Amino acid sequence: MTSQVSNHMKHTRIKDLLNATTYGHQVTVKGWVKTFRNNQFIAINDGSTLGNIQAVVDFNNTDEALLKRITTGAAIAVTGALVESLGKGQRVEVKVDTLEILGDSDPEKFPLQPKKHSLEFLREIAHLRFRTNTFNAVFKVRNALSFAVHQFFYERGFVYMHTPIITGSDAEGAGEMFKVTTLDFDHTPRTPDGAVDYKEDFFGKPTNLTVSGQLEGELAAMALGNIYTFGPTFRAENSNTTRHLAEFWMIEPEMAFYELEDNMDLAEELLKYVIRFALDHCPDEIEFLKNRLLDEEKGKPQNERSEMDLVAKLHFCLDNRFERITYTEAIDILHRSKPNQKKQFKYPIEGWGADLQSEHERYLVEKHFKKPVILTDYPAEIKAFYMRQNDPDEQGRHTVRAMDILFPGIGEMVGGSQREERFDKLVKRMEEMNVPAKELDWYLDTRRFGTAPHAGFGLGFERLVVFVTGMTNIRDVIPFPRTPNNAEF
Ligand code: 4AD
Ligand code: MG
Repeated sequence: MTSQVSNHMKHTRIKDLLNATTYGHQVTVKGWVKTFRNNQFIAINDGSTLGNIQAVVDFNNTDEALLKRITTGAAIAVTGALVESLGKGQRVEVKVDTLEILGDSDPEKFPLQPKKHSLEFLREIAHLRFRTNTFNAVFKVRNALSFAVHQFFYERGFVYMHTPIITGSDAEGAGEMFKVTTLDFDHTPRTPDGAVDYKEDFFGKPTNLTVSGQLEGELAAMALGNIYTFGPTFRAENSNTTRHLAEFWMIEPEMAFYELEDNMDLAEELLKYVIRFALDHCPDEIEFLKNRLLDEEKGKPQNERSEMDLVAKLHFCLDNRFERITYTEAIDILHRSKPNQKKQFKYPIEGWGADLQSEHERYLVEKHFKKPVILTDYPAEIKAFYMRQNDPDEQGRHTVRAMDILFPGIGEMVGGSQREERFDKLVKRMEEMNVPAKELDWYLDTRRFGTAPHAGFGLGFERLVVFVTGMTNIRDVIPFPRTPNNAEF
């Protein structure tokens, strides 16, 4: 056996080789060693599939020094005949003629061993975790979902808008923004009254990373009809939960002439479309992730395990119409619920007006309705300024045409609303909520010139990926998570 793979042979993806229907021909495989058994059997993976191809080495005729370099993690190229395998566990294998080590991997130092590693440990070596089956599957599903989002909107004539990442506005009014500045903190320019002089800053005014592309999206929708954004979004909220990232990806469609019902229909259709797409295009990955979850849950007490496996859960979501109820109805249900009566909620339901905690959302979705739920018409006080105001009810309570879509195991997956298109009402609300109307004058122009009913929503992409992959921590569905005190890699 020689140790030099001839250069003219093009290599074939392992995925294609594993599906091969003809045998006997010479092939070249390039990939990373997963395992090397009995000085003979190499399991090679090239990322194209979860499956490895087995390469069989004639160790009697192979240099000892070369065999020693076939270690877990090493990059290699092998050439040989693709043959039907006699062994169990694989249909085909490569009978190695030539083997070349492209990149050594010191087995003493390579942190990934052919055994199970905890997700926590893998998070610390996020730069290498792509090489595990779990993360291969997760990022394949993420890729498919992302493509499906674009396909869904493209098929429906929506225009993909690239809204700015650096902005001067706080669309959500929650003040959770990362500042963008080139000012020198040690010599901050000051105005005569001592305030920071942003005129000296790069943009001549205070700027931040966007918390939402919605406001700019609305401008585009008021001309192009239906648009969507899909980009990075930043929130400086100090939430160390399994559902929050400081940098995440959000999909924000905005539709002219849509009312809240149309908005809900579109969101439900989108979610079902992309989940079905993932099931159709990533069956092996989802099967793998299903088994991973079953395995993980084996260690849990019965009552903490999922009632359905991952595939059943995804189908269940496709087969059922999402429940649609108002915030007020939800509060009634929660008020009368067993955990509330028995004082089992950490935050008891006291009355109308407070925001729902994730324990309440999960009760509604997982225990009461047992399917995704769309909550509408929230109290105006707990929602953003741009949402369309309802007339006050008999009890004088103010609500807005908001909609949140709650998912099992996730809580809020989507947040959206019909927008307040009436100029006077919008301006009044901005005043009440201390939203600087002057700085958002460009936004108000949409209401000045040909205002029209419109609606939109934001889908948190990583929360969607969490749901479809059955992973439990949002940090495990984005390559390099940014969270409080963590911006590694
Ligand atoms: O509910 P949110 O804050 O809504 C908006 O930003 C609106 N401008 C959307 C719109 O109407 N165009 O965020 C929308 C979604 C949430 O439902 C959640 O899925 C996700 O974005 N999200 C986060 N995902 C991960 N980490 C965070 N810190 C998130 N904050 C929101
Ligand atoms: Mg929200």
